[in-house]
Amino acid sequence: ARSARILVASNRGPVSYSRPEENGPLTAKRGGGGLVSGLSAIGPEAGAVWVCAALGSGDREAARRAAEHPDGLLDRADTGGQAVRMLDIPEETFRAAYHGVANSVLWFVHHLLYQTPLEPAFDVGFAREWAEYEAYNTAFADALAEEAGKDAVVLVQDYHLTLVPQLLRERRPDLRIGHFSHTPWAPPDYYRMLPDATAAAVLRGILGADRAAFLTRRWAEAFAACCARVLGARVEGEVQGGDALRITYEGRTTQIGVHGLGADADFLRERAHRDDVAERLAQLREQIGHAPDGAARRTIVRVDRTELSKNIVRGLHAYRRLLEDRPEWRERVVHLAFAYPSRQDLAVYRDYTAEVARVAEEINDAFGGPGWTPVLLHVQDDFARSLAAYRLADVALVNPIRDGMNLVAKEIPVVSEEGCALVLSREAGAFEEMRQDAIEVNPYDVTATAEALHAGLTMERGERAARAARLATAATALPPSRWFLDQLHALGG
Ligand code: G6P
Repeated sequence: ARSARILVASNRGPVSYSRPEENGPLTAKRGGGGLVSGLSAIGPEAGAVWVCAALGSGDREAARRAAEHPDGLLDRADTGGQAVRMLDIPEETFRAAYHGVANSVLWFVHHLLYQTPLEPAFDVGFAREWAEYEAYNTAFADALAEEAGKDAVVLVQDYHLTLVPQLLRERRPDLRIGHFSHTPWAPPDYYRMLPDATAAAVLRGILGADRAAFLTRRWAEAFAACCARVLGARVEGEVQGGDALRITYEGRTTQIGVHGLGADADFLRERAHRDDVAERLAQLREQIGHAPDGAARRTIVRVDRTELSKNIVRGLHAYRRLLEDRPEWRERVVHLAFAYPSRQDLAVYRDYTAEVARVAEEINDAFGGPGWTPVLLHVQDDFARSLAAYRLADVALVNPIRDGMNLVAKEIPVVSEEGCALVLSREAGAFEEMRQDAIEVNPYDVTATAEALHAGLTMERGERAARAARLATAATALPPSRWFLDQLHALGG
C-alpha cells in the first residue's frame, strides 16, 4: 500500500504516448479535452497522484515500463512533474468499456445523440460490453485503494468511471470520495432508455461518493431527478450556488455540488503571444486575404474536436445560408473551421468527420473562386494555430447540440484582439454564465444560426468590444485551479 493524500482518477490522463516514427523513440504529448485542461491546473506541488488508463499501444508500453519502477509511476520528465499511474487494462476490456459503453452509450445518452426510433437497441452485445465496463471500473477501484493513504481524498472524473465511487467505498470506507461529471446529465425520460439495471447501476455507483458534482445547476438537477425517478431516492434541498441539494438512498446521503469551470486567463494570454502563435497568425492572415476593395476580410472562427455533439455540420450549413441570403458577405468573410478528429475508432465519428469535409468542400466549390476560399477547414490538431485563430476572430461560433461546459466559448473572448462577438448555443453549460453578452442560438435552427452570424458580423464595434470584455470577465471568473481546490475543500481536503 502507498500513501497518497490526494488522488485523481480519469480515463484520459495528462499525457499520451506514441511512436511517431517506426522504431523511433516513444514520445509523450499533452492530452486534450475539457477534463484534462481543468485537471492540469493541479500542478505537481499539490502532491496528488493521478490514476488514468493506457489508451493505446504507446501508452501500454509506457505503463509497463513504469510498473517496473518501485513507485509504479510514469517518468516525471514526461508529465511535467505530475505523479501519474497509468493502468494497463487488458485491451479488450478497455475497448468495450471506453468505445462501447462510455463513448457509444453514456456519452450518447447525456448529449441526447440517439436517433430514435432505430437507436439505441440494447441486446446481448451490450450486456457483454457492460461486464467489461464493470471490470474496467474495478481495475480503477483496486488501483486507487492501493495508492490511497488513510483518510485520503479521491476525486473520480466523468462517465467512464461511474461505478468507481461505490466500488472504492466497499474497499476503503475511510476515504473521502468525490465524483465529477464533465458532461451534461440526461433528463429522466431520456435517461431511462438505458436498460433498467444499467440505469440504476450508474446512479448507485456515483451515489457511492460523499459528493457528486456537476458543471452547472441544470445538470445537477437532472441527475437528482434521475435518482428520484429510477432509484426512488429522496432528494432534499435546492441547488442555489452552495451545497444545498442532498440525495439519500439506502441510508446514505450524497451531497450534490456545482462547480463551473472557467478559462485560465494568465496561461492563455502568455501562450497566445509566443513566437509559434505569431508565425501561425501570419500564415492565417495570408490564407484569409483581402476583399476585392482591399479591406481586410472578416472572420468567423470555430475550434472543436470533431464530435457529434459539437454540431459542426449544422454550423457549416448556417454559414452557407449566410452566403446565400446575404450576398454582401461573399468575398468579405472567411470561416475558419478547425475540427480536430476524435474517437476515430467509432464508425459514426469517421462518417461525421467525412461529412464535415464534404460540406466544407461543397461550400468552397459553390461560392469560392480565385483569391477567396470561403471555408478554411483545418483538421490537424495544432494548439498554436487555434490560439492564432482566437486572436483574429471577429465572430466565434460555438453551437453544440449539448455540452457540459464548452471551454472554447470561454477561451476565445479572452484571447481575441478584435473584441469578438460570441454566437453561443443555449444548450452549452457555458451559456448559463455568458448569456447576457452572447448571441443566443438554438443549435438545431440553421436559419437562426445564420442570422446570429450576421448579427455578430454587423454588431457595432464599440458594443462588440464592450461585450467581449464582459464575456472575458465571466469566462475567467472560475479559473481551473479554483475549480479543483473548491472540490477538494468541499470534501475536507
Ligand atoms: C470530454 C469528456 C472528457 C474526455 C474529452 C475528450 O471533455 O468530458 O472526459 O476526455 O471529452 O474525449 P476523449 O474520448 O478523447 O478522452
